[in-house]
Amino acid sequence: MTSWLNTVHCEDALQGLARIPDASIDLLIADPPYGLGKDYGNDSDKLDAEAYLQWTEQWVDAALPKLKPNGSFYIFLTWRYSPEIFVMLKKRMTMINEIIWDRRVPSMGGSTRRFSSVHDTIGFFAKARDYHFDLDAVRIPYDAETKKARSRSIFVGAKWLEIGYNPKDVWSVSRLHREHRERADHPTQKPLEIIERMIKASCPPDGIVLDPFMGSGTTAVAARRCGRNFVGFELNAGYCELIDSRLAALDDKVA
Ligand SMILES: C[S@@+](CC[C@H](N)C(=O)[O-])C[C@H]1O[C@@H](n2cnc3c(N)ncnc32)[C@H](O)[C@@H]1O
Repeated sequence: MTSWLNTVHCEDALQGLARIPDASIDLLIADPPYGLGKDYGNDSDKLDAEAYLQWTEQWVDAALPKLKPNGSFYIFLTWRYSPEIFVMLKKRMTMINEIIWDRRVPSMGGSTRRFSSVHDTIGFFAKARDYHFDLDAVRIPYDAETKKARSRSIFVGAKWLEIGYNPKDVWSVSRLHREHRERADHPTQKPLEIIERMIKASCPPDGIVLDPFMGSGTTAVAARRCGRNFVGFELNAGYCELIDSRLAALDDKVA
């Protein structure tokens, strides 16, 4: 087993990426600081617009060579910088989708001088036309009502009814609240449901997922739950401990 694999390295992603062999990664999932001034126990989200976009280009250029020729890339952004970053990425890759993550924010409070923003913008990019994509692994089962409405004999045994439908590009998944069991102590932890959909669709079984900004380690946990390998980086030592404990809790369940 390669020494860098199935580990979250507690270091700057730019430094760590240099040790990952080129063309070794099936799927890159990046959830970088958004450039909105969030507190991750470091200054990583305090850059001004110009410096933020420059830094983004820098880590993108360090990360993309790590992808295999049929690899894919998902990047979490907000509306603030997704236009500039998508233009930059479209010069390097093929854009497959813009996915809207509707965080299901309840209708109360919010902005008074604009419409309240309640979504993340996720870019899905591929290196080449033959990128790995396993649609069957992420189909959504039809609910009982739809199945009942299609119960006439012509539909009985219909393959499409049994295998479920293709997820659309709007993903409505609640952000994590204190009452959610998977919730950890990180300000922008992503739901496993979202990351697992990306992994099942875009990383072959036994493949490798790279996440340069692990945060609470959702990508590592999701990869292990899906039977994939992972590697990643995180600057904050406290979050690295959190990742270790989330992974250990998974091992306890398996044992
Ligand atoms: C948006 S959060 C990731 C959240 C993660 N997806 C999760 O579900 O918990 C971004 C993370 O990147 C880390 N970070 C910022 N700059 C970094 C760098 N240069 N190298 C490694 N990690 C960095 C921050 O400390 C923060 O935890």
